[in-house]
Amino acid sequence: MSVPQLEDLGDLAGKNVLVRTDFNVPLSGGEISDDLRIRAALPTLRWLQDHGANVTAMSHLGRPKGEPNPKYDVAPVRERLDELLPGVTLLDNLRFNPGETSNDAAFVATLIEGQDAYVNDAFGASHREHASIVGPPMHLPSAAGRLLAKEVEILMGVRNEARKPFVAIMGGSKVSDKVAVIDALAERVDSLLIGGGMAFTFFAAMGHPVGNSLLEEGMVDYCKELLESDKPIVLPSDITAIGPGGELFNPDAGGEVRQVGQSVPEGWMGVDIGPGTAAEFSDIIAEAQTVLWNGPLGVFEDPRFEAGTKHVAHAVADGAGFSVVGGGDSAAAAKQFGVAEMMDHVSTGGGASLELLEKGDLPGLAALRS
Ligand code: 3PG
Repeated sequence: MSVPQLEDLGDLAGKNVLVRTDFNVPLSGGEISDDLRIRAALPTLRWLQDHGANVTAMSHLGRPKGEPNPKYDVAPVRERLDELLPGVTLLDNLRFNPGETSNDAAFVATLIEGQDAYVNDAFGASHREHASIVGPPMHLPSAAGRLLAKEVEILMGVRNEARKPFVAIMGGSKVSDKVAVIDALAERVDSLLIGGGMAFTFFAAMGHPVGNSLLEEGMVDYCKELLESDKPIVLPSDITAIGPGGELFNPDAGGEVRQVGQSVPEGWMGVDIGPGTAAEFSDIIAEAQTVLWNGPLGVFEDPRFEAGTKHVAHAVADGAGFSVVGGGDSAAAAKQFGVAEMMDHVSTGGGASLELLEKGDLPGLAALRS
């Protein structure tokens, strides 16, 4: 997919360049707990500075409701950016203005005032038809930044030209969040491994009891149809479950933890894939030439239920195939288990990477082509 690149902007010496970045970083107690998204934008920002541009960056942070909210102040981001690359101006949180999410023309006009060119390097936000993403390209010479270009190249490559066997691992809690991408990938992959909370809706579709596990009643028919199709769906054969009285994140509450098959007894809750499944999934991953992993296989934030996700994360990292980790929770898991650096690509986009894999395009990319 061709979108204009930084080089297409021409001579930038002395020019003002507005850059949309995705600095929506995790904050804990006002501190940035992972600055990946800031570091990922540096090649673009540095390139622009090196070519003589005056660079202004802009981002959203969290989901403030169109008005200033100290909780979502970009001050910690500004500070970190200044440490990593001095000299870039960072505007206030875009979502402090209601015009950002409503794509208001007057807000776009404020953003582009005094600017000579626009760069979109916010891959993680390019699925949003927001003012800062789709507005400036209508008025200014525009280009994709290095991060956006790299994400698109890798994810589109996986989507359209994956070397086979191509294995996708889908986890996370809800089938409904992943339907579109499951449909798109099921056509392309050799194996689609399903784990995480969404496995239980598939088990229910097979007629198994799921106890207190996550279940999306409204998706049972969809799962049934998928299982009856010839799509290469692989479900867990065993599950780690917690018994009556047990609580997530609270080992002191007690509750027995043990493995069950695809039927979860009444009063029990499935919380991870079991060791048998982790081994089976690893065997399939080891044979793959391309692996795409999106979503944890269990409640990995609770150390008692991290084993499945950890095992699969290592299998993906150790495999010889080209490994791509979708953003969000799976990127956090890869980092937690110390394997992020061993992956070929860890996407900075959660929803954006899913939408690109599903549709093969994003509003932010279409805006750059227009
Ligand atoms: C993300 O974190 O996935 C992006 O920054 C987009 O954020 P949003 O879902 O709040 O639009």
